[in-house]
Amino acid sequence: MNPIQEGRVVIVGSGLIGCSWAMVFVSGGFQVTLYDIAQEQVTKALEKIGKQLKELEKIGMLKGSLKADEQLSLIKGSTDLKAAVEGAVYVQECTPENLELKKKIFCQLDLIASNDVILSSSTSCLLPTKLFTGLKHVKQCIVAHPVNPPYYVPLVELVPHPETDPSTLEKTYALMKKIGQSPVKLTKEIDGFALNRLQYAIISEAWRLVGDGIISPADLDLVMSDGLGMRYAFIGPLETMHLNAEGMLNYCDRYREGMIRVLKTFGPIPDFAGETEQKINEAMCKETPADPEHLNARRQWRDDCLVHLAKLKKEMKSD
Ligand code: NAI
Repeated sequence: MNPIQEGRVVIVGSGLIGCSWAMVFVSGGFQVTLYDIAQEQVTKALEKIGKQLKELEKIGMLKGSLKADEQLSLIKGSTDLKAAVEGAVYVQECTPENLELKKKIFCQLDLIASNDVILSSSTSCLLPTKLFTGLKHVKQCIVAHPVNPPYYVPLVELVPHPETDPSTLEKTYALMKKIGQSPVKLTKEIDGFALNRLQYAIISEAWRLVGDGIISPADLDLVMSDGLGMRYAFIGPLETMHLNAEGMLNYCDRYREGMIRVLKTFGPIPDFAGETEQKINEAMCKETPADPEHLNARRQWRDDCLVHLAKLKKEMKSD
């Protein structure tokens, strides 16, 4: 089978997420045009991607069936948006999280887009109605929110605008599957999408437990990394319920009352400031001082862990 796919993808914005998306798309055999406003940024991004692909190949973690050089040769840089988008099948916008900037970019894309190309945003928290309302090609617009770093963490939240055509959602879903990502569909937009709503619920209760002096910041993090997180890398909270009793109904029978009782003690939303902020900051900085050198070293370690976890998940795949 020819590993090179039909159709070309455009990445708009070649920063952290744009480069990661480019690597994911070429691993799936797609041609990619990496667009940014400044040539210097594009050149830097292409160099960075080339280096990363080679390193991944060296440690046996390069995705896809093409070699690093072959994957790199699928990426072309561009500073001409119109030329980049012409003939493309899919555009993944990855510019800074700024509503006015993104709206301006989608207006530009709207003017040059064909009636077939999908226009997608990587936004972490801007709602589709804020980004796409009023665009001529709104039917072709969607949010495809990745998780950093998308090369190792495959989840992509697909969030439609109320006027997004169902076929845009389905085609984006199929494309994400094809490049080895793990797409999930939201039926309509909601602030925080699904991932950040879950994440904020956890952060909120973590903050309260530490703020109330019930547990230390370090131990709180262990509850997740050596406790819940161990299983959550493989099964979600709902399947956990199903397996932790004789099925879901039995779990609800057994634990419904207890869950409601505990949840009633959850108090108001923390202010994420003041004494608790100081306390948590001190504990975090004790382990990893908040300067670029220490933060980057720890991030590198985290990404190494994710590489190994991705490998393990692949070996353990149940479907
Ligand atoms: P970044 O700051 O690393 O990269 C942004 C890129 O956009 C830069 O290369 C910049 O030169 C370029 N840019 C600025 N104005 C532009 C324009 N008018 N046209 C084309 N390119 C332009 O930002 P990052 O972290 O890559 O984030 C991009 C998007 O991805 C944001 O919407 C963010 O919310 C989202 N995202 C970020 C995650 C993260 O952890 N960093 C995770 C998931 C989503």
